[in-house]
Amino acid sequence: FHEKHPPALHLQSDGPFGTWDLAQLQRGFQVYKEVCAACHSLKFVAFRDLEELGYDKGQVKTIAAGFQVPGVDPNTGEATTRPGMPTDYFPSPYPNETAAKAANNNAVPPDLSLMAKARHGGPAYIHAILTGYGPEPEALKQQFPDFKVPSTGHYNKYFPSLAIAMPPPLTAEGQVSYAEGQPKPTIEQMSTDVSAFLEWTAEPKKVKRTQTGWPVLGFLLFATILAYLAKKQVWAALK
Ligand code: HEM
Repeated sequence: FHEKHPPALHLQSDGPFGTWDLAQLQRGFQVYKEVCAACHSLKFVAFRDLEELGYDKGQVKTIAAGFQVPGVDPNTGEATTRPGMPTDYFPSPYPNETAAKAANNNAVPPDLSLMAKARHGGPAYIHAILTGYGPEPEALKQQFPDFKVPSTGHYNKYFPSLAIAMPPPLTAEGQVSYAEGQPKPTIEQMSTDVSAFLEWTAEPKKVKRTQTGWPVLGFLLFATILAYLAKKQVWAALK
């Protein structure tokens, strides 16, 4: 009953000619900020990295200031929080693991920075988890009468244990309001957008990396032809 392979997710960043769809990444960031950030950190992403998605410095400042990051009270020296700055990283909404567990029925929401690298299928897995909730199939109950989703879990056919501690985060169309001219924020669209965004957080240099390959191949081809011509000339007298 566990679906080991998430259904294919097609993104503009796919393949050797892929490019980032910046409008989509911005929508995905919006979903992260308004929904996922309530529970998940992005500890390897700094606010200033968002400039790569097309936000300007002022916007990045505003976004950063909207997050509380760990800080130290300058008067008492005690741990406290302060508004974020562009150089800070996306913080965890919880002060520590105990607090995270207490808020989530003993499960800790994992950091999402590298989630698209950590699971088979990458962004497609994230999209599958977000859209894979539903009632337990009858066939499962019949075949495994003892199987029970714990009261703190939620049936999800793409999660290995079939019961995930995360409540379905995207449940209604329009949960996030997209700007004018953007696609309709259906559950499918929001899930795809946030998966695309988390692919970027996991490998922000992906497009640059694939694009670097083309001039390299061109150079190698040129060098091969040159070597071939040189060889012909060197051995011409011995024909
Ligand atoms: C786990 C994504 C929102 C709580 C996860 C996992 C992913 C994910 C990919 C990991 C699954 C795995 O380990 O294979 C997202 C996204 C969200 C979102 C993209 C926003 C659209 C939330 C929210 C909460 C939450 C709002 C809290 C109410 C958790 C918890 C786990 C988890 C507790 C651990 C589940 C377990 O180990 O059983 N999430 N999440 N998530 N998430 Fe979220």
